[in-house]
Amino acid sequence: MTTINLLPMATQDLLWQVVPSTTQKTPEERAAILADPGFGKHFTDHMVDICWSEKGGWHRPRVQAYGPITLDPAAAVLHYAQEVFEGLKAYRHEDGSIWTFRADRNAARMQRSARRLALPELPAEYFLDSIKQLIAVDADWVPSEGEASLYLRPFMFAKEAFLGVRPAAKVNYYLIASPAGAYFPGGIKPLSIWLSTSYTRAGHGGMGQAKTGGNYASSLVAQAEAYENGCQQVLFLDAQEGKYLEELGGMNVVLVTKDKRVITPDSDSILEGITLASVLQLATDRGYTVEQRPVTLDEWRDGVASGDVVEAFACGTAAVITPIGELKSADGTITMPEVADSVALSLRAELTDIQYGRGEDRHGWMTRLDG
Ligand code: PLP
Ligand code: COI
Repeated sequence: MTTINLLPMATQDLLWQVVPSTTQKTPEERAAILADPGFGKHFTDHMVDICWSEKGGWHRPRVQAYGPITLDPAAAVLHYAQEVFEGLKAYRHEDGSIWTFRADRNAARMQRSARRLALPELPAEYFLDSIKQLIAVDADWVPSEGEASLYLRPFMFAKEAFLGVRPAAKVNYYLIASPAGAYFPGGIKPLSIWLSTSYTRAGHGGMGQAKTGGNYASSLVAQAEAYENGCQQVLFLDAQEGKYLEELGGMNVVLVTKDKRVITPDSDSILEGITLASVLQLATDRGYTVEQRPVTLDEWRDGVASGDVVEAFACGTAAVITPIGELKSADGTITMPEVADSVALSLRAELTDIQYGRGEDRHGWMTRLDG
């Protein structure tokens, strides 16, 4: 028997329908998953689904059982990839409460991505409310051990069955959640990065700033090259000149110098990372000078050779902050020096202390999701 609860939504105009799953995992099954969640393999019992149509706008917000989505074979997303997504996490604090980190930024980025893909913009308050609604039913899935979290994956795509090439008139927004441990199976061991000289990810005027599946599809062969060469991630260079650093397949890249500068690429074809923005703020607070500007591969190589560049790290929601140990390519390897006091690891500790409620949230980055 299905129960339907109507819960008032923060935004007056949508009324949530909550249809509890009848096939929820037992507490024992859930505990077994949470003991070793991995990344992106297991999903909670429920998901959010909100419809949009050209005529009706956003409507019928629903929390329902996690499960397959029925699509017409002519659904536009399957043909023209009109899709965007986001990635953020819910963290359990020691007192049991559940929080998220800078979700307003994810909401705004999803709107920017949607604009680029000619998709409707989900109002920021619906975005945050969708997370609160899902947490209200799946709170037990937020891990409480170690540095695990519940990875939240909002996404939206063109559902209209129509093969003409134009923005779809029917779109759905979904939110699923997946308990997550470390993104890299080796934990926070220094990464080997493969420099792709055969492929680029995005170019000027392309979709590089949008979080859309196509950018990840285009990274897969380069990522496969990385694996073949014993590396965990791929680094892309700019599409025009092939000499400026862009970003990794799923993370931003940062260099640290001996004279306390943190340097990261500025480009109109990379994702505006929320972890990156936060790391730059924490580094500024520590007295580092932040340089967000075009950065050449030569600058990295020469900087390491002269001793000026002392650290490099990857940052993103899934990876948090992970030191880079080497950058390999067909033309040679840049090997990062061993450091006694890693700035990357200490920034990681400071950031995760804020996220897990162990450190002061002095920038007001955390939002409570439960209660
Ligand atoms: N760059 C790419 C291509 C990504 O997929 C991600 C991860 O979301 C990032 C950068 C980092 O962004 P954020 O820190 O907002 O997760
Ligand atoms: C994230 O960090 O949220 C991402 O989307 C990156 C992906 C590699 C999982």
